[in-house]
Amino acid sequence: MKSIPYGRQNITQVDIDAVVATLQADFLTQGPKVKEFEDKFAAYIGSKYAVAVNNATAGLHLAVLTMGLKEGERVITTPITFAASANCVRYAGGEVWFADIDPETYLLSLESTRKLIESKPKGFFKGLIPVDLAGLPLDLEAFKKLADEHGLWIIEDACHAPGAYFTDSKGIKHNCGNGNYAELAIFSFHPVKHIACGEGGMVTTNSEQHYKKLLLLRTHGITKENMLENHGGWFYEMQELGFNYRLTDIQSALGITQLAKNTTGVIQRNSIADTYKKVFKDKIKFQSLPQGSYNAHHLFVIEVEDRKGLYDYLRAHQIFAQIHYIPVHTLPYYREIGYDSATLINAETYYSKCMSLPMYPTLTEKEQNFVIERILEFVSL
Ligand SMILES: Cc1ncc(COP(=O)(O)O)c(C=O)c1O
Repeated sequence: MKSIPYGRQNITQVDIDAVVATLQADFLTQGPKVKEFEDKFAAYIGSKYAVAVNNATAGLHLAVLTMGLKEGERVITTPITFAASANCVRYAGGEVWFADIDPETYLLSLESTRKLIESKPKGFFKGLIPVDLAGLPLDLEAFKKLADEHGLWIIEDACHAPGAYFTDSKGIKHNCGNGNYAELAIFSFHPVKHIACGEGGMVTTNSEQHYKKLLLLRTHGITKENMLENHGGWFYEMQELGFNYRLTDIQSALGITQLAKNTTGVIQRNSIADTYKKVFKDKIKFQSLPQGSYNAHHLFVIEVEDRKGLYDYLRAHQIFAQIHYIPVHTLPYYREIGYDSATLINAETYYSKCMSLPMYPTLTEKEQNFVIERILEFVSL
């Protein structure tokens, strides 16, 4: 059997045809495919606006700048995430603080976040960056209530969660990134994610003001609107310091065809998750699913005592499981600037046991059975 990764892209002829057609068209970048992708993505998620960017890290950077984060201002995120969720705060000169995770959902704990906020004077923190880890949506209604009590903004890192939703206290379903509870949300189109653009990302929002700021910052801070003077048709102004964080038309064409497959892809991922759950029930702990939530299953995470043993055993059988994540506060960069903390007990316990199993729409039944057999074999050794 060929090797089995933990995640992989699903590229078919429609994707290839779309990219080739764009290569043969007039615009490779700054053309119509970018706006088409943005409009289709916003419609899919249910947000008013979407801004395509060259990767989610750039999207997170633009997001904190859009919220006006300044040097020395403090933001809380989860230690169990990819470093980019925290790094964006550092790019803006801000300080990253970590609250602990919930030991069942592995998401940022509301109670730990509340405790951290309430342990400091009012105004100490500016915002929250919670993460829909593995594709499991956070209860943003509860986080929004907490954020409002303390005057904080929320940037939702929804990189793992296009197509996921949670149900609010009125029974209304909210897609991750729909902008109803968080000011901004960010998605990633790295190939191991649901929608593969090679590299790529999207920022969604319901605020026109945030939307305009994102557009401005994505392209150097250059605009033709509200100019101090105008020398003619060629004229533009650079009104603030922005970046080139644009997604190309080639990548957007791929994003459009990939997006069209996402609903089916998430259903296939959930079917794979159901099989894992059925087999592991009462034997191996896995990420829990709160009532009313739909997990988009970028990942399927289990916990095992001998994690290294299982990891090595699976690799010996050409199964490339992965670990998500090494707690961010333990990474040397964050240790060095003083974020090592012994208080994030759940995150550190989780890290000692967690493992992400193969999870992608084209994983065959035979491959999944092979993975399950090797795991059960190892745990009963
Ligand atoms: C939770 C999370 N946030 C942010 C990112 C950054 O995404 P990108 O690789 O598109 O910059 C990733 C990517 O792995 C991620 O998993």
